[in-house]
Amino acid sequence: MPQEACKRNLGLDLVRVTEAAALSAARWLGRGNKEAGDGAAVDAMRWSFNAMDIDGRVVIGEGEKDEAPMLYNGEELGTKKGPQMDVAVDPVEGTSLLATGKPNAISVVSLAPRGTMFNPGPAFYMEKLVVGPKAKEVIDLNAPIETNLRNIAKALSKDVDDLVVFVLERPRHEKLITEIRKAGARIQLHSDGDVAGAIMAVSDESTVDVMMGIGGTPEGVLAATAIKIIGGEILCRLAPQSQKEKDAVLQSGYNLNTIYSVNDLIRSEDIYFAATGISGRTSGLRGVQYTGQNAITHSIMMKGETGTIRYIESHIAHGQLMKINAMKQH
Ligand code: FBP
Repeated sequence: MPQEACKRNLGLDLVRVTEAAALSAARWLGRGNKEAGDGAAVDAMRWSFNAMDIDGRVVIGEGEKDEAPMLYNGEELGTKKGPQMDVAVDPVEGTSLLATGKPNAISVVSLAPRGTMFNPGPAFYMEKLVVGPKAKEVIDLNAPIETNLRNIAKALSKDVDDLVVFVLERPRHEKLITEIRKAGARIQLHSDGDVAGAIMAVSDESTVDVMMGIGGTPEGVLAATAIKIIGGEILCRLAPQSQKEKDAVLQSGYNLNTIYSVNDLIRSEDIYFAATGISGRTSGLRGVQYTGQNAITHSIMMKGETGTIRYIESHIAHGQLMKINAMKQH
């Protein structure tokens, strides 16, 4: 085996981070309190990250957008004994899904070498178009929806009416939904969770072929890590949703016409992605299951350099759960 393939796989440590966050968050399933669920996941994630041998700095946190308990942008994570890494975190992606007990809430993180992860600054929203490897060459964010769908269908050897498009159910997507339907494609409307949507769009195992629409910028960068490792594409463009956001984005020097590809969002191959299911199925990720003394988690871990994708089922014993519970009370 080449020496490169044998070097430490940070992804294996990273899975423990999303497992810990998911275990803590899942205690809040359906309890109507998104802040508490998010807070529990943030604490568990920070605690686990700080045991990891990396010199990490958060580039993609979510705190400012949601005024949620933060793993804030610029926060330093890890023991500082390992490589300098950019860190993207979403302790609970789909806080409302968690609070209402709906499927697809996940805990998700990614790592890339320092300075190689797109920093969206004050941009909260971006327009996204995501497809898997077979259709990556044919998409164009400037082309009409119908043209994109026709080209994607051809690349997948399907008819347009075979396609399923993941779209977040938002008033801002009314026109998009009308155009997708006019083109003849089918739609899965989801109330939240477009990281899961992006993973579904690039994964062969899901029924979703494409993801379209405006969602969070942090979620776009996080998803880009997985999309890059799987070999798909995400094209996106900043899409501020308020005048305040637009002013801040322009003042920070971003151009609203720039189209970013997966390689602009993540500018390295030496990347890692991990996600653990909290509430239910996401492209193969089951939610946390408690079995009395133990808990079972389902995670996915990806390593960019080798392209390895691991599905990991963990049976976590009583002692570990107690540690997490004790931590929750601090
Ligand atoms: P949270 O986990 O922060 O609640 O985000 C869920 C989510 O649906 C993301 O998947 C998506 O990118 C974003 O919100 C869309 O933002 P908004 O809900 O403001 O339309």
